[in-house]
Amino acid sequence: MSTDKVQIFDTTLRDGEQVPGCKLNTEQKLVIARRLDQLGVDIIEAGFPISSPGDFNSVVEISKVVKNATVCGLTRAVKKDIEVAAQALTQAKRPRIHTGIGTSDSHIFHKFKTSREEIIERAVRAVKYAKSFVEDVEFFAEDAGRTDDEYLARVCEEVIKAGATVLNIPDTTGYCLPEEYGRKIKYLKENVKGIEKATLSCHCHNDLGLATANSISGVINGARQIECTINGIGERAGNTSLEEVVMILKQHPYLNLDTNINTQLLFSTSKMVSENMGMVVQPNKAIVGDNAFAHSSGIHQDGVIKHRETYEIIDPKDVGVTDSAIVLTARSGRAALAYRSKKVGYELSKDQLDEVYTMFLTYADRKKEVVDEDIHEIMKLCVSTNSILA
Ligand code: KIV
Ligand code: ZN
Repeated sequence: MSTDKVQIFDTTLRDGEQVPGCKLNTEQKLVIARRLDQLGVDIIEAGFPISSPGDFNSVVEISKVVKNATVCGLTRAVKKDIEVAAQALTQAKRPRIHTGIGTSDSHIFHKFKTSREEIIERAVRAVKYAKSFVEDVEFFAEDAGRTDDEYLARVCEEVIKAGATVLNIPDTTGYCLPEEYGRKIKYLKENVKGIEKATLSCHCHNDLGLATANSISGVINGARQIECTINGIGERAGNTSLEEVVMILKQHPYLNLDTNINTQLLFSTSKMVSENMGMVVQPNKAIVGDNAFAHSSGIHQDGVIKHRETYEIIDPKDVGVTDSAIVLTARSGRAALAYRSKKVGYELSKDQLDEVYTMFLTYADRKKEVVDEDIHEIMKLCVSTNSILA
């Protein structure tokens, strides 16, 4: 069975940048956009051009420098938004306008105070208008996660007829369960006339911690684009994390789905985004957290030292991390101490290790972590009792 490509649509600079305190200036956005292009993302959502002159300018500048990726600008289903986005994207090699409107009853009746039919008309008008500027038009059905499937299928059918090339099915509130989100994608694949002319896209928020699982369920059920951000940043609890979906597809080759991402740049890209946004990555974050390849309990350390794959399903080098870390704490065993001692120049016999280990435990109980300098100190103390020669 041949492998299908899943397009990676990065929205770090749009949905990600909406996070309070994460605002970037144009220079910072350019640095990140260049890196995303190098990383191999297929689409960069560069901003929401009508939202501010600064964002408009960023989309213009990003359009000039991006070499490979499609550059996309967000709009509401509003004429002026679409005109401004088209203007901002004029210098992009591959421009895309991302336009759309809320389709759930909650959006239709409470936000827009209108009818389902009127929403379809507005959606079609917006897509047709966007199409008069660019060939590549993505339509988002905001709150699709809570939109009735039959109505959503009608919306999709009409916007495909109007020229939409990509259909974004956002779980805007992060409410869906993976099975439910996957079923929605499958329903659209099977019930929307003309669906073969468009790509279905997953845009999942993480309010219940399910964004990654939902996106994967979406592609298993026929979607071929995932909208995501570096480090999973985004509104509220964030968006789908790019590094997670990319590595899930890579580590599960039997799904026959892969991406164009150069995974060895994932760790450094995560650091770059975190530093520019001033948004710390939690240490236990999958793939890119500081502890993602760190082992601290004696049982795990012994296993990893003997054979890395005992406790690691990803080779750290595949994501740009130099090596697994064997962290010395009061929970570490002799194998880890011998391993780390050897790394800093001490080859210990069994008797020496026994004595050094006793000294190490006294040290480790006082400290959170025993570092290289502490190992030298411990060795000196053992030398002073004539029990070991450094
Ligand atoms: O979460 C969402 O629905 C969005 C749309 C604007 C695409 O970000
Ligand atoms: Zn979103």
